[in-house]
Amino acid sequence: MKKIAIIYASRTGTSEMIAKEIGNTLRDANTKVDVKTVLDDIDFDYYDAFIIGSSVRLMKVLGEADGFLTKYKHIFEQKPVSFFFIGITMDKDTPQRRDRMMEFINPTLKRIPLVSPIDIGLFAGIINIYKIFPFLKLFGLKEAPKDYKDWDKIREWARIQKKLLLR
Ligand SMILES: Cc1cc2nc3c(=O)[nH]c(=O)nc-3n(C[C@H](O)[C@H](O)[C@H](O)COP(=O)(O)O)c2cc1C
Repeated sequence: MKKIAIIYASRTGTSEMIAKEIGNTLRDANTKVDVKTVLDDIDFDYYDAFIIGSSVRLMKVLGEADGFLTKYKHIFEQKPVSFFFIGITMDKDTPQRRDRMMEFINPTLKRIPLVSPIDIGLFAGIINIYKIFPFLKLFGLKEAPKDYKDWDKIREWARIQKKLLLR
């Protein structure tokens, strides 16, 4: 049986939901999948491959994901790994938005130059304007989170990763 760990960082639960859905898509009779956070204890030797995900905030990968990747880069230099990143920039999937998203991610990738991810998935998350600009609440408006998650796209990406990571 092949074993994959999906390891995520998430502040408001979007990347967590996406990590779990990727896990549900990958899991089958021949593939054991565990979903963990970057703060959990992980037995890296146990797994054949990894998928690591984080949201971006204030134009950066979450610090805990960046720290995790830097700390354990020696593992991901040697075992197959794919990344996924969540940001509202991806509410439209255009080449320009992908480039913009990669500008947020590249500083993290530069800190782990010998890690060659098999793939990098870029997905939209949820935007809650009042979390970014809390003062808007002063105007008495109700919270208006907008959900841009595209589950079909996420599941399709997950299916492709299984083939790429375990071949
Ligand atoms: C304070 C704050 C800053 C954010 N900054 C960015 C950003 O720079 N780029 C982006 O694409 N999305 C940004 N977002 C959107 C988040 O990536 C999005 O809400 C995502 O769903 C959060 O995922 P999480 O709950 O897993 O952390 C920001 C959200 C918040 C609340």
